[in-house]
Order: sequence, then C-alpha cells, then structure tokens
Amino acid sequence: MEFNIAVLPGDGIGPEIIDETIKIMNAVGIKYNHAFTYINGLVGGVAIEKEGTALASDTLKMCQRCDAVLMGAVGDPKYDDPQAPIHPEDGLLELRKELGLFANLRPVKVYPALIDNTNFKPEVIKGTDFIFVRELTGGLYFGRPKRQWRTTRGRRAVDSMSYSEQEIERIIRVGFEIARTRKKKLISVDKANVLQSSRLWRQVTVEVAGDYPDIELEHMLVDACAMRIIQNPRYLDTLVTENTFGDILTDEASMLGGSLGMLASASLAGVPKAGSRTPGMYEPSHGSAPRRAGQDLANPIATVMSMAMMLSYSLGLVREASAVEKAVEKVLEEGYRTYDIMGEGKIKVGTRKMGDLITERV
Ligand code: IPM
Ligand code: MG
Repeated sequence: MEFNIAVLPGDGIGPEIIDETIKIMNAVGIKYNHAFTYINGLVGGVAIEKEGTALASDTLKMCQRCDAVLMGAVGDPKYDDPQAPIHPEDGLLELRKELGLFANLRPVKVYPALIDNTNFKPEVIKGTDFIFVRELTGGLYFGRPKRQWRTTRGRRAVDSMSYSEQEIERIIRVGFEIARTRKKKLISVDKANVLQSSRLWRQVTVEVAGDYPDIELEHMLVDACAMRIIQNPRYLDTLVTENTFGDILTDEASMLGGSLGMLASASLAGVPKAGSRTPGMYEPSHGSAPRRAGQDLANPIATVMSMAMMLSYSLGLVREASAVEKAVEKVLEEGYRTYDIMGEGKIKVGTRKMGDLITERV
C-alpha cells in the first residue's frame, strides 16, 4: 500500500529521533511491501526562526492532506522568556486543535528487560501495563478566559478549566472503546470533590457508561491517582482524564518504564475502532531535550513506539506495528541501552546505533 506521512522533526533532539524512526519505517516498508512518502514540514522553534510563526498555514494544510503526522519534539530555551510573543509549544497546541486531535493515548508498560532500571522495587512494578487516554484539545490548555493583565493592585492572570458535555462525552467514549480492547475496566480520573468541570465530567461519564454495560467503571480523584500510580501500578488498566491532569500524570507514570524516553503517544481525531483508520499525529511524550541535542545521546524508542502506534491506528497496519514493537523488545532483551536507561553490565549505545539495531531486527 501507499501512504503519505507528514514529518515534523521540530527542535532539539527531534530531528535525530525522527531520522532513526524513518529508517525503521523504511525497513517495515521493504519487508511488508508498502511505499511511505515523507513530506517534511517545520513546527516549533525552527518554524519561528525560518517562517516567523510556530506553525505556518501551509504546514497545517500539508498535515491535513497526509495519512498521518509524525512529530519529533518542540521547545527551545531561546523562547523560554514568558514575555516572548510566540513560543515553540504554540505550534504543537495549534496542530492538536486544528487537526481535532482530542484523544491522546499514552501506553505505560514495564518491559521485563528494564525492570531493574527504575527507581522502583521490581515486585511493585512487575507486569505493569496500562494506558492513559488524555483529553487533548480542551480544559486548562485552551479554556477561555486565558490572559494576564494589570490591575491597580498588581498583576493578575487566569486560565480556565472549561469543558462542554460534548467534549467530555467523546473522550469518555474513547476511554470505553480502549477499555473494551483491554481488561474491560475503565478508571475516570477527575477532581469532582472540588471542581465544577470535574463534576460535569463525572455526570457525563456515568451517562455514557450506560452504553457500555460490559465495562466496569471506577471514578478516581486525581490526587489519589497520582499516589496509586507509584503505590500499586498493576491495579491500573485504562484511565481517562482531563488535559492538564493527563499531562502531569503521564510524566509521572513514565518513570515506571524507566525513562520519559520510553513513553510513546498517539493523538487521534476520532474514536479508534478495530479495522478502521483514525487520523492522528504521533510524537514521543517527552520534550526536545535541548541540552542533549546533536550528541547522538537521545533515546529514539518513544518515537519509534509512537510510529508503531501510527502504523496500527492511522494506517491499519497492525501486523507491521507489532513487528516494530517486537524489534524494540528484542534489542532491550539483548542488553542495548541509551544513556537514560543504562544499567549495570548493559551495552551503552547512541541514538543512531539504537536505530540501526531496531532496523536490523524488523
Ligand atoms: C506533552 C508536552 C506538551 C503538553 C508541551 C510540550 C506543550 O508536555 O505532550 O505532554 O503539555 O501537552
Ligand atoms: Mg507533558
């Protein structure tokens, strides 16, 4: 089959991890007889530099025309000044909004090969395998009002955690659909003891649950969830939550897998169903790590695993996706590690070597 892929390497380590991911994708293409055509675009700091905006309208249109979008990372300390008029992250948020990518899937898995590599007791994290469904185009990130202003008594600022029932319903449906493909247990994470938006979230969740009698539903407060993730991660299977809660909890959860460099992510514009293709953007959950850029240090695995999610969710290539996942597992079992997951007696490799090793095993 033939596919057009929009590729947005972005900033920092973005270009390096994307290069390796494409190398691996090409190996998939050869092995399974698919032609992937890559169309490059700019987003983030590089886009600000070359085009004066974090996401040019041509780039957005190009992404809309492609079968899927593969992104590296955005973020550049040059634009860290809160007064700066544009931030690289604006490009990413605009992409999410404009492409309607409301559902962000982040699987958290503890690989047996990495079990001794984390800050946790192996017996606590062994067998951990859950997935976050994070709402991605609403809540605190996008709600209005959102501004900073001056008053006679000093400066003030506001962000709004705002949700419509439609926005809640569609993300909850994604949660239920994903739960249906797993252990049929959905945990909805909110702060309904305090926040109005969470109370609506919980009401809508209970209403939608009526359509999914086969799925067991549990509500969990976000603070309790933060605790549960490190206290008993095996308890978790499918979780669905608000944008900011999801941002915070997924970084926390990534530590179970040994590194943020292992956490893949798929951002979808629809409810994924078996046998159907959902438009989406695929990027690692980590940032651009500017201090590590250009040194052949970065761990490409989160991006590679995101690409595997792209094969399965947006291109319908489930068998190919599992080949990539198996290749990654094999490389880890053989003891190869980038610096962030390095352990005693293991073989330390750089970004490119890690890419080559995975490519050979596809
Ligand atoms: C993530 C990142 C982004 C977010 C940043 C880069 C804007 O932290 O994808 O989790 O906050 O969503
Ligand atoms: Mg984040």
